[in-house]
Amino acid sequence: MTSIITFKNITKRFGARAVLDHLDLEIPRGKITFIVGKSGEGKSVTIKHIMGLLKPDEGRIIVDGIDITDFEQEELRQYRKKFGMLFQQAALFDSMTVGENVLFPLKEHTKLPLDEMLKRVEMTLAQVGLPNMQHKFPTELSTGEKKRVGLARALVSRPEIILYDEPTTGMDPLVSEMIDELIVRVNAEIEGITSIVISHDLKAALATGEYIIFLYKGKIALAGAPKDFKSTKDPVVRQFFSGKVEGPMEFL
Ligand SMILES: Nc1ncnc2c1ncn2[C@@H]1O[C@H](COP(=O)(O)OP(=O)(O)OP(=O)(O)O)[C@@H](O)[C@H]1O
Ligand SMILES: [Mg+2]
Repeated sequence: MTSIITFKNITKRFGARAVLDHLDLEIPRGKITFIVGKSGEGKSVTIKHIMGLLKPDEGRIIVDGIDITDFEQEELRQYRKKFGMLFQQAALFDSMTVGENVLFPLKEHTKLPLDEMLKRVEMTLAQVGLPNMQHKFPTELSTGEKKRVGLARALVSRPEIILYDEPTTGMDPLVSEMIDELIVRVNAEIEGITSIVISHDLKAALATGEYIIFLYKGKIALAGAPKDFKSTKDPVVRQFFSGKVEGPMEFL
């Protein structure tokens, strides 16, 4: 497996508690990786370390062969251009049209000529299945459509890595399925892109993920392909699967 992101022995404490506890983690390049675990297990903290929003107390973080652990503000600003992020709430600007929302990051981060930018906006909206939507306002869209616009906005700068934070939490089953399909399509269609999805939803991880990392007590309880999860005898992982409160899993 070729990794795009490697955590070497990462520890992060908040007070006395090590949320990440000597964590070694690898995210494969070009694939869809799900990071799963119950609430409070450090999924968001992991993502924040990847983006350089939090620094570890111990350990090193290597991305694309470069050690980013000690990056300063300006280096981080450059570094973060690698990423597109789809937030849990699509977080669109309601006063701007769909087209303007998707154009926004290009205006902020690139110096492309305007007609080039507009072409890219149109192309990216088509890519997420929303052609001819530029002139609508977010308030005129369904929840699923808003998510797609959020995704178009995350993709328009052509990131190397796309991060999805709980992309389907709180969505109805049909919209959830549509978003899961979109994650697969984007990963297949955009050459070389790496997708990272944070999720509570082990079913979605099994259906959509190519690699799954299950966090528990600051470490990896299990990492592997869906088939490794389906066949595991690890009692904690099996309990998470079953969604039951009774079992060996400890709740904080
Ligand atoms: N900035 C912070 N200061 C103090 N504690 C923090 C901070 N950020 C996270 N934590 C703690 O670290 C633990 C892990 O938090 P994290 O947000 O990563 O959980 P999560 O796995 O993303 O959970 P959820 O599924 O609910 O989003 C929690 O106990 C949280 O309270
Ligand atoms: Mg979280």
